[in-house]
Amino acid sequence: MDGFAYANLYTMDLPPPAPRWGGFPPYYFVGGNNDPTLIPCELLAEAAASVLRREGASLAIYNLGQGPQGYPPLRDFVASKLAARRSMHCTRDDVAITSGSGQGIDMVCKLLTARGDTIIVEGYSYGGAISKFRKMGLNIVGAPLDDDGIRMDALEDILKDLKAKGVSAKFIYTIPTIQNPTGSIMPLERRQALLRLAKTYGVPIFEDECYADLIWAWDAPPALYALDPTQVIHIGSFSKSLAPALRVGYLVAEWSALSLLIALKGDSGTGAVDQMVVAEYFSRFYDDHIKRLSTALEGKLDVMEEALRREFGVSVETFRPKGGIFLWLKLPDAVDVRKLIAPAAKAGLVFNAGPEWACDADAAKSYLRLCFAMPSTEVIEDGVRTLARVCFEETGIPVRSANLENATR
Ligand SMILES: Cc1ncc(COP(=O)(O)O)c(C=O)c1O
Repeated sequence: MDGFAYANLYTMDLPPPAPRWGGFPPYYFVGGNNDPTLIPCELLAEAAASVLRREGASLAIYNLGQGPQGYPPLRDFVASKLAARRSMHCTRDDVAITSGSGQGIDMVCKLLTARGDTIIVEGYSYGGAISKFRKMGLNIVGAPLDDDGIRMDALEDILKDLKAKGVSAKFIYTIPTIQNPTGSIMPLERRQALLRLAKTYGVPIFEDECYADLIWAWDAPPALYALDPTQVIHIGSFSKSLAPALRVGYLVAEWSALSLLIALKGDSGTGAVDQMVVAEYFSRFYDDHIKRLSTALEGKLDVMEEALRREFGVSVETFRPKGGIFLWLKLPDAVDVRKLIAPAAKAGLVFNAGPEWACDADAAKSYLRLCFAMPSTEVIEDGVRTLARVCFEETGIPVRSANLENATR
């Protein structure tokens, strides 16, 4: 027998059905996975064993009997890491643990928005957030970016224009530190200008620092939250700094907002073993781990950039990220990357098409994002070669690869 008997009762407005999982294709450059060779399996096993021997009995109780805000030693660790790395002055009381920072995005939307509300989002932004915002029926206004993040002149025009129409944006969603997908870091003066502008127009800032642990050179300015906690709700994640299959993220906000966000969390607590293992491991090894991971990731980025230069020559513009796990790049205007998706998939290659990572899809038609964390260096090199071949077959670009005329290869 096949088929649910009550399919006629499904609600309207459902997402497309999930495909059955068929495994990864050979060249998998999408999503935010990490490098499997850099997961510290032995140390995580030791961390799990020691914390479970010490505190495992508390698993008998929802939230370990310590309330819905999260495992206190993990909140202590988050507060100390944010103080050291992001100049944020907060304590465990300002931190709530979430089931990944994606849950934080849901919670903040529930707190501040209703269907039909307007929000401001960086012109190129995290595709997962854009699709969540769309599903929630929010009206997205894209703010243009340059190499330093949101352009303040453009943001001021947007805010003025909305005000003239009697619309007040519910928040400005920004990824100021290792922007997704451009990889930029917003300089201090621009952060201050953003806070001033947001205050003038009475719009809160929703700061997403998913990648801020993975900066090549430790020279990032303080988080927006550090500059004015009264204007900012901050989220972060352990998905990129440790492992995305551990569903652990965090949210930092002043108590008047945090107390409501906790009430909106909607699950019965983030997995306690995940929280315990992250706290136990990172309380001892965070600095070493981050140094090792960032160094390895930057090395893989070099391999990817070199392969792109070799295979695409002058036909590619890369936006070298200042940290993180992905590279944003632009092909010539004549290439619409949406037309490469199907032939690339046939060749075993998937990538994030720019239009899915943009408020205005057509404006990003020649852009794409490649994640370099999960694939090995061999897969990166072969994959970029495959991408160039597919692109040439579909568009005649690039004309030369590896210094040879493509038609002659
Ligand atoms: C900018 C940004 N925010 C949030 C997330 C959600 O990550 P997670 O739910 O794994 O913490 C991602 C994932 O890629 C991201 O890129």
